[in-house]
Amino acid sequence: MENFIQALPKIELHLHIEGSLEPELMFELAHRNRVDIPFASADEVRAAYEFSNLQSFLDIYYQGANVLVEEQDFFDLTWAYLERCRRDNVVHTEIFFDPQTHTDRGIAFGTVLDGITRALDRGRDELGITSHLIMCFLRHLDEDAAFATLEQALPHRGRIIGVGLDSGEAGNPPEKFERVFARARDAGFLAVAHAGEEGPATYIRDAIDRLGVRRIDHGVRCVEDAALVDELAVSRMPLTVCPLSNVKLCVFRDMREHNIVELLRRGLCVTINSDDPAYFGGYMNDNFLAVADAHDVSQQEIAQFSLNAIEASFADATRKQEMQAIVSEYLATG
Ligand code: ADE
Ligand code: ZN
Repeated sequence: MENFIQALPKIELHLHIEGSLEPELMFELAHRNRVDIPFASADEVRAAYEFSNLQSFLDIYYQGANVLVEEQDFFDLTWAYLERCRRDNVVHTEIFFDPQTHTDRGIAFGTVLDGITRALDRGRDELGITSHLIMCFLRHLDEDAAFATLEQALPHRGRIIGVGLDSGEAGNPPEKFERVFARARDAGFLAVAHAGEEGPATYIRDAIDRLGVRRIDHGVRCVEDAALVDELAVSRMPLTVCPLSNVKLCVFRDMREHNIVELLRRGLCVTINSDDPAYFGGYMNDNFLAVADAHDVSQQEIAQFSLNAIEASFADATRKQEMQAIVSEYLATG
């Protein structure tokens, strides 16, 4: 199974680029930019990555992002992730970034965007990895701040395909951002949102009904509403599930208790993703392997996660067909 997963062409739809900041690069950038970090070594940083819930992770995660200052830093961060994609045989990726994490520290929106897109362009040209960029609003901040971020993004509409919603979920329901999402959709952005990671199943319904999302990020708490699970199966509303993240943040106690395989078998369009791989102990192959190790799944079922991700992706029809052909050929020839 390990070899099958390694060589399977994969598509990632839930990856926070700031969450791919490995401790070694964090140190290099801290030194380069003369930013203080409260750790003596990369090993010490890793030892601090023990989380009890989403917020305990976010506190450390936003601190880590402070070392990102120059356009080159955002390039280096993104390029390191793309090299990892190549090793894991990820052929297409849709990446989140959190502009407010940077603009609130005085970093220009354009600096962040230029660095990330320069790496994505090079990834397409040199590695053949196609990509899209999704800008997330931080839901612990207010609606005005989200509107201001949307205004900053409008001139860059061609380089950002969609908007998302992340950060602390509990107490920050979808309706808080109903108007800003309506405005973003009017401007041509596709919508996604984190929902049902720590928040209740009603947040999944509200993200669909009030925010007009095309995918739900996480969504694993849908099982608390049986009718919702049936509706998600019928509509094929994609869930971008992140198995290692869910265990690391104690959404599930153990990978054997994770519901991703159950949801797959009930006909939902579930996909496997890495979320914040530098913090949660693994990239795409590690996530696929963790699921396969903990559950009795067939190769066909594992491949279905890739086929679902192609269906759920924002790639154009031509690229989707190309990716379907790559996966079908892989399954036919091994
Ligand atoms: N930001 C980065 N990772 C996140 C997650 N798993 N949930 C919410 N916000 C996030
Ligand atoms: Zn996430």
